[in-house]
Amino acid sequence: MKTYDYPRPNSEEITPRSLFLSRRRIMAGAGASLMAALLAENNAEAEALKTHPGPYTADLTPTPEEDATHYNNFYEFGMDKGDPSANSGNYKPFPWTLEIEGLVKHPQKINVEDLLRSAELEERIYRMRCVEAWSMVIPWDGIPLHKILEKAEPDDKAKYVAFESVVRPSEMPGQESAFTGISWPYVEGLRLDEALHPLTLLAVGAYGSSLPNANGAPLRLVVPWKYGFKGIKAIQKIRLVEQQPPTTWNQLAPQEYGFYANVNPHVDHPRWSQASERVIGARSLFGERRQPTLMFNGYEDYVSALYKGMDLHEYY
Ligand code: MTE
Repeated sequence: MKTYDYPRPNSEEITPRSLFLSRRRIMAGAGASLMAALLAENNAEAEALKTHPGPYTADLTPTPEEDATHYNNFYEFGMDKGDPSANSGNYKPFPWTLEIEGLVKHPQKINVEDLLRSAELEERIYRMRCVEAWSMVIPWDGIPLHKILEKAEPDDKAKYVAFESVVRPSEMPGQESAFTGISWPYVEGLRLDEALHPLTLLAVGAYGSSLPNANGAPLRLVVPWKYGFKGIKAIQKIRLVEQQPPTTWNQLAPQEYGFYANVNPHVDHPRWSQASERVIGARSLFGERRQPTLMFNGYEDYVSALYKGMDLHEYY
């Protein structure tokens, strides 16, 4: 397996943008009908969502929306942070069917437009910590994954959940490029108990509107106590399986990116420290603000029991 040099954190990499009100937000504020399709930055259609605040929402100030939607990792559209917003204009996420299959009693085919209108949509304001040592705070709109998995009824043999992204080279220029080293589709996985944890979210929106293409339209995984690469975007298949499934970054560089990928300031990446993080979009007198990284990204009280007795240096 080819080893890939995941981009290093680089303090000169970005210039934070000022807080900005996107057109869709101004229109929503002006009383445009809630379900009206509104224009997003990349000309894709974004829908304002009807969401209620969910439990576990942290009292945090969200990252400016402009930063969260223009500083992205989504290799299907290229490897630079600006590529996903710049190169995803031809990507048409709707209509979209999410399939749930494998070791379940009731396989499902879910129309994602139905999820967007679901009365179960919750807003969750979560910390997001990338393995590259930067962080954001994102207000997601989504449905706890356990609600969806419970409808499919995993059977007793199911121990892990495997996730698979879409493959559409004609709409995703990064899938035609040899540079990423990734063999598509992008894949991820969780242990079943992690997938059923109430913090684990299937997000269909962010900042009150349907997900922009750059952020993983039409739906992505959000596991706030893990590094961002676990948050697989544009999910087409969820499969319940017996064995630990392969995951994209672990296949590319197993010594650097583990299956668990829990945020942990005490376990450094082989090439950089994980003790602190750059806060995207936040300035201090000395430039971009840094802050200490929290164990399990600040969700220790909720999730540490999942890893009781495990050596977190070994299972990184
Ligand atoms: N999902 C897919 N399908 N392809 C990707 O390249 N990148 C991952 C993750 N999900 C990625 C993906 C990485 S490395 C990170 S840090 C997060 O998405 C970034 O999410 P954001 O761009 O919304 O901040």
